[in-house]
Amino acid sequence: MCLLKDFPQDGLINHGFWILMTTILAYVIILVVYRPLTGYYESYYEICLEGQYFKRVAAMHEQYGEFSYHAGKLKPITGPIVRVTPTEVHFNDPEVIETVYPTTGRKTDKPQWVADRTGTPYSIVSTVEHDVHRRRRNGLNSFFSVASIRRLEPIIQERIAKMMWRLEVEAAAGADVQLHRVFKACASDVITTYGLGDSLDFLSMPDYGQAWFASTDFFFYLTHVFAVFPWFVQLVQFAPSWLVEGSVPSLRYLRMRQEWWMEKVREIRASPDQTKINRTIFAGILGSSLPDEEKTDIRLASESQLVIFAGEGTVGKGLSPRIRHKPHRTSHVVSSRKPPYLNAVIQEAVRLHPGVMSRQVRVSPEEPITYYSKRTSEVYDVPPGTVVSMSPLITHMNPNYFEDPYTFDPERWVRNPSLSRWFMGFARGSRNCVGYAHPSTSVDDFKEKQPVR
Ligand code: HEM
Repeated sequence: MCLLKDFPQDGLINHGFWILMTTILAYVIILVVYRPLTGYYESYYEICLEGQYFKRVAAMHEQYGEFSYHAGKLKPITGPIVRVTPTEVHFNDPEVIETVYPTTGRKTDKPQWVADRTGTPYSIVSTVEHDVHRRRRNGLNSFFSVASIRRLEPIIQERIAKMMWRLEVEAAAGADVQLHRVFKACASDVITTYGLGDSLDFLSMPDYGQAWFASTDFFFYLTHVFAVFPWFVQLVQFAPSWLVEGSVPSLRYLRMRQEWWMEKVREIRASPDQTKINRTIFAGILGSSLPDEEKTDIRLASESQLVIFAGEGTVGKGLSPRIRHKPHRTSHVVSSRKPPYLNAVIQEAVRLHPGVMSRQVRVSPEEPITYYSKRTSEVYDVPPGTVVSMSPLITHMNPNYFEDPYTFDPERWVRNPSLSRWFMGFARGSRNCVGYAHPSTSVDDFKEKQPVR
């Protein structure tokens, strides 16, 4: 046996020195090369496979799960918490929703990269700091109150009547219509009129504004590219139109829309008619105690872009599955104005087809997040400043909370109203969807309105 004292001392020192150097080098390589590279792992799924990282995240929970022995069978238990990027942990446990997304009592930030990649850097959804977000959101809240929405009901009714009329014309001509496009056009017209007092009138366009929406969809795809090349978002947002249209022609219509929004902002701000201002999304912001730098044209245009983007695709997509899955109690849905069943249908449609597929990321800047997993009986302390996230589809497909999760079953919400605790289709906590009441209202009207000629 070779004893320590048998080694020549010089050789031992050299040996130790090289082990130390190799360890440091390996650590530096991991920090400088490997960790940043693992960040691109997500980009591969999002850019090359077009937004498929959520599936990989679900697979990671399976991969890092365990098996439990129950009634003579091995049952897989998904891992409740996994690291999905170098700086972010993701939960798959509906029990933790209220801890990750508190409404009050703890600050909720967003990571800077959300602001950098969304393309609406001055809007509430991209606001990093909790306190700034609260102030900005207060400026918007009144405009989304149910009372406020009711004042705009005639506009909603008029657009829906127009949509029904166009569908009848298409049906008479035997035309094939892609309903999700029609719904998107209708939702966009309503939200834009609601927010800016005017619209591009997509419902009157022969293709329901398809070129405009394709441009927006391409922009959403680019947000994954912005994550890797943040300078690119600056180019798309602020470069002159001729340059954007020349280098990325697919963005032409988006650029036209952005110019139109800016025009509206300036027109509304300059309007001597206070009623006109009051009927726009800006009334709350302009009349608030927010400092002047919060009321600039670019910030108002950014908020308009967010509200329109947030409302048109989500509502359009949310309506399509509702038509596809025929509810069992159709008559009740059509006839009643404030039925729990209608809400159940909306929740069920959004549960299965969340308008927002991406991970809902948050940061607790000052306090740790303590998570106790009932499934594994382990306690996890997530340090302050860590990016935490959950995904609506993964949560909604959890068979322990939503029985037979792939089945469209609105009745589940009526049978068991407490299921809402596990629902995160409109996000949760202090940064939940500000338009939450709005989808129900417009859907309600859509169901009840008769076409006019
Ligand atoms: C079925 C319809 C809808 C769904 C499923 C939906 C879903 C969501 C979700 C999941 C978020 C949170 C995103 C995040 O993680 O930060 C959100 C935020 C938001 N939504 Fe909606 N939404 C819908 C309709 C609308 C409508 C109609 C509007 C406005 C007209 C709207 C305006 C907003 C705004 C402004 C935010 C940002 C809130 C904040 O950051 O404080 N949404 N929505």
